[in-house]
Amino acid sequence: MEKRRWIERSGQWALAASVLAISASAFAMPPTAAMWDNGCAACHGTLGASAGPAMPSLAGQSKEAIVAAMKSFKSGARPSTVMGRLATGYTDADFAVMGDFFAGQKLHITQQTLDPMRVAKGASLQASKCGGCHTENGKVSNDDAPAMASQWLLYLRMQMALYVEGKRKTPGMSEAIKKLSSDDLESLMQFYASVK
Ligand code: HEC
Ligand code: HEC
Repeated sequence: MEKRRWIERSGQWALAASVLAISASAFAMPPTAAMWDNGCAACHGTLGASAGPAMPSLAGQSKEAIVAAMKSFKSGARPSTVMGRLATGYTDADFAVMGDFFAGQKLHITQQTLDPMRVAKGASLQASKCGGCHTENGKVSNDDAPAMASQWLLYLRMQMALYVEGKRKTPGMSEAIKKLSSDDLESLMQFYASVK
């Protein structure tokens, strides 16, 4: 094929691709992996690696954790600022595709300014109080428990506040938290934020 025709055709492909991208961001098409990245990236960062500090990274969370979160946002069981409204537009099948997509991304490692004393205290509390469910220092997303290693501190604090107020509830965890002071919880959040 001559060069000119090839260039014209490439132009058509580029146009088709941009039209696809626009309709994908309008969520008019059946779900594809690329669509999740377009639709979620504005807040959760490229490939689920959030630029912080109030938006959680989704990269490396298990499929179960993403699906569980989306379902509870949708039902209203989990309080939210934006996700509840957003989740009502999707089906369980969509949630499964989102889960597969973000579970396939590498954990987002962040560099945050933290207090080493608190990080050390949080590490020992994690081992005794939280590690049964948040395994490997929160690096591994265990079933429906999200990965928390390197998660943004502000986001973790905001979610922990919802637990402390009893607005967000998780069986087993809500009880574990009651035995801890707010100082202990702050140390735990700093610890998770520190894990690389
Ligand atoms: C307008 C910004 C925005 C968009 C777009 C957005 N999110 Fe969110 N997301 C948030 C915020 C903020 C939170 C924290 C909960 C809340 O307050 O709504 C969150 C929380 C989440 C969580 C919980 C994470 C955790 O660690 O528990 C999941 C899962 C999630 N979003 C998935 C998605 C997916 C999938 C998409 C794309 C279909 C998406 N979000 C699009 C803002 C957004
Ligand atoms: C019985 C198991 C269990 C225990 C024990 C537990 N958690 Fe959790 N945790 C979970 C699950 C499951 C979720 C996600 C629940 C959901 O999406 O509703 C969660 C969510 C969280 C979140 C929100 C993360 C996010 O991305 O939104 C934080 C923060 C957290 N846990 C901290 C802790 C701390 C600190 C401890 C120890 C004091 C602890 N957890 C103990 C199971 C547990």
